[in-house]
Amino acid sequence: MTDRLSSLWQQRYRTLLPEALAEALTSNPVSQSAVFDALLAHRSVRAYLPDTLPEGTIEAAIAAAQSAASSSNLQCWSVIAVEDPVRRARFAALCGNQEHIATAPVFLVWVADLSRLQRLAIRAGETHEALDYAESFLIATIDTALAAQNAVSALEAAGLGTVYIGGLRNHPEEIAEKLTLPEGCVGLFGLCVGYPDPEKPASIKPRLPQQAVLHREHYDASTEAECIATYDALDDAFQKEQGLPPRRWSETMVRRIATKAGLHGRDTMLASLRALGFRLK
Ligand SMILES: Cc1cc2nc3c(=O)[nH]c(=O)nc-3n(C[C@H](O)[C@H](O)[C@H](O)COP(=O)(O)O)c2cc1C
Repeated sequence: MTDRLSSLWQQRYRTLLPEALAEALTSNPVSQSAVFDALLAHRSVRAYLPDTLPEGTIEAAIAAAQSAASSSNLQCWSVIAVEDPVRRARFAALCGNQEHIATAPVFLVWVADLSRLQRLAIRAGETHEALDYAESFLIATIDTALAAQNAVSALEAAGLGTVYIGGLRNHPEEIAEKLTLPEGCVGLFGLCVGYPDPEKPASIKPRLPQQAVLHREHYDASTEAECIATYDALDDAFQKEQGLPPRRWSETMVRRIATKAGLHGRDTMLASLRALGFRLK
């Protein structure tokens, strides 16, 4: 387990697991769990075998998703499993021509859903004013993301591959129409699920050094520039290994946020959300 942990750590951070930390992690119940192992081994999979999933896989993944914490137990999310290959091909096109949506046998669409609570209030003859506020929308998006990630963890621990599809938000209204979403629902992201193609294995992508994201007692960005320079170099090395063009992560991110063009047309999101029934007061 220690060798495996060291290897996972090294792949994630591209640095040796420091000796003192290695010792602590060897006897730490969190890092010794099978869940931790599966989480550190995460990588997005974009090449799938066409094989169908064993019966019960979707239901098991959704049980894992529903086991996530939920703000006030409001449970304001829904998920739509799309398996029909013709429909998957349409979603692949709508999400920016992402071929893996057409190849993976299952495409899960994760929906922030305030409509169920609205119907509940209407059936009870009550108002539902709180749903009109940005806070309710935030709750729905947070709950949806937590649920989806639980499903991802369960699926990956079973050897399945997944990749989130933010491209689902390229055309929020068309997606809502295709899925007959009621008012108060928006597709937040998709998730391809299937068996990874062993001919095209995905690798563990390095992340920022922990010092850049882990603060103790108070926020401290004093070593950030150094951390990011280190990360630029190791992310570039990863890119080269993958046969991808060289890049500096920091420059890519700066370009990504410089103008609204980096949002790939999603700068109209607020209008789309309002059109879908979210008032966002
Ligand atoms: C909400 C969300 C949306 C994403 N959307 C896409 C997408 O549309 N297409 C894609 O190929 N990857 C997508 N990804 C995957 C990220 O590119 C990937 O997680 C990131 O590059 C880190 O790589 P890793 O998951 O292999 O560690 C998305 C990830 C998240 C969390």
